[in-house]
Amino acid sequence: MKILVLHGPNLNMLGRRQPEIYGTMTLAQIDEQLQLAAAAAGATLLTRQSNHEGVLIDTLQAEGWDADGIVINPGALTHYGLALRDALAALSAPIIEVHLSNVYRREPFRHTSVVAPIATGQIAGLGWRGYLLALDWLLHGR
Ligand code: DQA
Repeated sequence: MKILVLHGPNLNMLGRRQPEIYGTMTLAQIDEQLQLAAAAAGATLLTRQSNHEGVLIDTLQAEGWDADGIVINPGALTHYGLALRDALAALSAPIIEVHLSNVYRREPFRHTSVVAPIATGQIAGLGWRGYLLALDWLLHGR
């Protein structure tokens, strides 16, 4: 089983970036937890972060077609990234959209996700463990 985890813009700054909203775990620490969970299930996990929509799309085109599941936190691209959405929509693997914060309790511009309509499911507001729950569902839940 191959799972692809994509982190969008600014998520490389986790740990330093508004920890009261996003928590104190760094992206490397989150990815490490995900790798442990994937390894325990005998799955291959690929984690990638980019601040650039085009790079995220390139990664989806290169690694998404043979993936059995995709976990993505698109960062702010969630709210307007139509090219990213199109790249996700082209794939057949289930897609779980993850947000560390509860975007629905925040500014109105964060209440719209262009990714949600083509995602299998969404987890928001559960911090870094949201990634773990998404991965768990892809590995065991279906
Ligand atoms: C985020 C929420 C987005 O609105 C924001 O732009 C992010 C992070 C989250 O994980 O809560 O960069 O996706």
